[in-house]
Amino acid sequence: MGWKARRHMKLDGILPFCRKLLAMAIHEGDIAVDATAGNGHDTVFLAKAAGDSGHVHSFDIQETAIQATKDRINKEGLSDRATLHLTGHENIQAVMPEAHKGRIGAAVFNLGYLPGSDKSVVTKPETTIRAIDALLPMLKPEGIIVLVVYHGHAEGKQEKSKLLNYTASIDQKKAHVLQYQFINQSNDPPFIIAIEKRG
Ligand SMILES: C[S@@+](CC[C@H](N)C(=O)[O-])C[C@H]1O[C@@H](n2cnc3c(N)ncnc32)[C@H](O)[C@@H]1O
Repeated sequence: MGWKARRHMKLDGILPFCRKLLAMAIHEGDIAVDATAGNGHDTVFLAKAAGDSGHVHSFDIQETAIQATKDRINKEGLSDRATLHLTGHENIQAVMPEAHKGRIGAAVFNLGYLPGSDKSVVTKPETTIRAIDALLPMLKPEGIIVLVVYHGHAEGKQEKSKLLNYTASIDQKKAHVLQYQFINQSNDPPFIIAIEKRG
């Protein structure tokens, strides 16, 4: 049975575990980052969790993704809580307002390509790593970056190994780094790398 066919179990699947980590990390009034907006599901989730006094910054390099996210957030009546950036997450340092730096409770990267769209547009290890590097100093103590790593496609294999090397080398005095993965499933199931900034 592949990872997509899984239904009933006590252990959290990858996406529920991702949401659990984000919900744990983000508090009312926090700033949140959706580094790969896609269809906007995570942006809506983060906007709800950040509350009226919080804010979400969402990034995507595809206009269709930013538009889909805009539509979703408008439909939920949450447009005041989100700023959508049509630019790569590696530019976060330049576009994040100074007042929001240091207030980030949670950030999420759903890596790979957007299902149902152009499969040639994929996240790249160099830019993902550049974004994580820029994000770490902007996190609150105990703030969390969650990476969902999809590695079924060719570029995903490279991204997986480069990200594992990079995140395993983050100074343990600066952050706790966790890998959450089902290790007996077929079809290259996605896994999580979570980075929690130390207080
Ligand atoms: C797996 S999808 C995200 C799915 C999304 N979280 C959702 O809920 O629908 C990955 C997205 O990352 C975007 N992307 C690729 N490179 C990027 C970059 N450098 N910066 C920001 N987004 C990027 C793609 O355009 C794609 O929409």
